[in-house]
Amino acid sequence: MEKREQLYEGKAKKVFATDDENLVIVSYKDDATAFDGLKKGTIVGKGVVNNRMSNLLMRLIEQKGIPTHYVKELSERETLVKKVKIVPLEVIIRNVSAGSFAKRYGVEEGIPFDEPTCEFSYKNDDLHDPLLNTYHAIALKLATKGEIALIEKYAFRINEILKEFFLSVGVKLIDFKLEFGKTKEGTIVLADEISPDTCRFWDAETNEKLDKDRFRRDLGGVEDAYREIFRRVGGSALASEEDED
Ligand code: TMP
Ligand code: ASP
Repeated sequence: MEKREQLYEGKAKKVFATDDENLVIVSYKDDATAFDGLKKGTIVGKGVVNNRMSNLLMRLIEQKGIPTHYVKELSERETLVKKVKIVPLEVIIRNVSAGSFAKRYGVEEGIPFDEPTCEFSYKNDDLHDPLLNTYHAIALKLATKGEIALIEKYAFRINEILKEFFLSVGVKLIDFKLEFGKTKEGTIVLADEISPDTCRFWDAETNEKLDKDRFRRDLGGVEDAYREIFRRVGGSALASEEDED
């Protein structure tokens, strides 16, 4: 696989073309941003943790029957993925109150829900990713009704898979954000990343935060938190599992 020109640089990742028009290489950076890029910093080693952890979780999700963009881990920071057109929706699943949910509805953080919630934001930094409902997403032609129903079904199933997995390593999955993409064939697949940048992870015993909230909220120990969540995930059977090829 030959790496070619850079196609795109985002806040946390770069994307490169390859000699196969259907595949691209994602390269994870240590750059961290929050609040639509207003807060900027570096989390040393984040790119490695996010790349490897996201790949491990994508393999798990794929094994459970949900299609993902994942193809092959190329190095510590680089992964080969299917080229997709990102559906401009941030899909957020919550199991416990935290973050913008707690703020918007005036409740404490840490209240477990009887059932998980799903919400959508319009992925648009200029508009600050506004919350929107299914009708709005269809009106804006961001996706079809059928695609949104499938995305929601996948997101809840992914929640079940991840909740169980993280609990087995002593971590509560509070909430997380997913993005989906559409392949050339028109298949909806899980894309982007699943990492401490895009999830809230609390230690099951102490509720210690093991995610990007340590950076967003200036709590200190950011690098240690990324290392610790990676160690937990790596401590499980899955981490030793190598790609077949
Ligand atoms: P929120 O409570 O700030 O809405 O965040 C919900 C989840 O989504 C949390 O796990 C962090 C993640 N997230 C992102 O991945 N990207 C974002 O831009 C935001 C705002 C949240
Ligand atoms: N990464 C997002 C940004 O910089 C926000 C966040 O993760 O809090 O806008």
